[in-house]
Amino acid sequence: MANDISALADDVFSPPSDSALWRKDFLLGAATAAYQIEGAAQEDGRLPSIWDTFSALPGKVLAGDTGAVACDHYNRWESDLDMLSALNVDAYRLSIAWPRVMDETGRPNRKGLDFYRRLLGRLKEKGLKTFVTLYHWDLPQHLEDRGGWLNRDVAYRFADYADLMSRELAGQVDAWMTLNEPWCSAFLGYGNGHHAPGLANGRFATQAMHHLLLAHGMAIPVLRANDPVSQKGIVANIGRGTPNSGSAADRRAAHLFEVQHNAWILDPLLKGVYPEDLFELWPGTDPLVLQGDMKTIAAPLDFLGINYYFRTNVKSDGAHGFTEVPLEGVERTQMGWEVYPDGLRDLLTGFNETYAALPPIYITENGMASDDNVIDGRVDDAQRIAFLKRHLAAVDEVIKKGVDIRGYFVWSLMDNFEWAFGYERRFGIVHVDYDTQKRTFKRSAELIAKFLKERAARA
Ligand code: FCB
Repeated sequence: MANDISALADDVFSPPSDSALWRKDFLLGAATAAYQIEGAAQEDGRLPSIWDTFSALPGKVLAGDTGAVACDHYNRWESDLDMLSALNVDAYRLSIAWPRVMDETGRPNRKGLDFYRRLLGRLKEKGLKTFVTLYHWDLPQHLEDRGGWLNRDVAYRFADYADLMSRELAGQVDAWMTLNEPWCSAFLGYGNGHHAPGLANGRFATQAMHHLLLAHGMAIPVLRANDPVSQKGIVANIGRGTPNSGSAADRRAAHLFEVQHNAWILDPLLKGVYPEDLFELWPGTDPLVLQGDMKTIAAPLDFLGINYYFRTNVKSDGAHGFTEVPLEGVERTQMGWEVYPDGLRDLLTGFNETYAALPPIYITENGMASDDNVIDGRVDDAQRIAFLKRHLAAVDEVIKKGVDIRGYFVWSLMDNFEWAFGYERRFGIVHVDYDTQKRTFKRSAELIAKFLKERAARA
């Protein structure tokens, strides 16, 4: 590590004294995903994933970056976990790389499994809660070769994978998450082609979504049977859509934006139906749904993971849908995403009213990218500090309104492979120099560590 976290910054990252964030049982953690940090793409029998294939295609990822090396976390996991525990966080959210732990025939890859067993073991030794995502977008390529999420059979393969993992890792996981952001897998992967596997067809998106949700629904009872003590959930990204004017057409457009981003996933999970408005927006794209599927998908959840980043201002496109009208003069991040904590508050309070079956919530991702540089051994990420404070304040507001939020994970523990944007976009609270693999705590990390130390001392 470049800097000593005990030399903490003197300004405070301190919520008001009545804030839920002071409660020891409110989990504060950091999140990562396998493909974004592990590297070691060909070590110990790991098979290729759709992201290896996709990122190798010219023009798909900024600067031609791939996850082949990433943060080399597969080899540096021990020092990375020391770095994590120096932050004093309560919990760590990571994902398992499916292509690392199972071969084409469904047999376990012991070396890959041992990696996660050691990692989770060390996290437990350090007293951290473990939140494990089974699918954070790295589908084994051999399954994509058989149609990927367009093939119903892949949902059954996912249930087999969940079965193996929960038998092997039972007792080491506090919370299982089946899928991360099925919206991105279905829409970006099969609907517009911005993500792996890079297909672009609206009909594909809804069918892929159905199979993703089915995979989730089939995995939940398997996880329950094999590892009864842990919590089981799923992670959805949510988007706030606001109308560009008060006109009925623009308000409808904002509604449809949220149907496409939120209700498309949450309605099947929490009500067992797809929202009808979705097929008004995308006529003729109804997926093939077999009898019993919706009941499977709506399997009761112990918690819902929510990832929130920004809002989108929209107007009616004059027909069935919406178009974005970017607002001027608003604060944006390195991604161009607007900083808008009210969106998190408004969406969560809205869900609390809409869904009778809304389970307890963890914010499983929130954070921002900035063009961070190490100067004299320090990284001053002032925009991120303000961002985190404002979003944590929004979380607190929502809790006060009666929504059951149990924790918050910052995205991300360290700078990493940001999918189609490669290594240019830096989301970490720890800076990574990709030439040397040196990690440097950003000021945000120092302040989080300081706050959590103070919280522990008060308890
Ligand atoms: C989310 C992804 C995560 C990361 C952040 C910035 O959509 O789940 O892997 O890329 O966005």
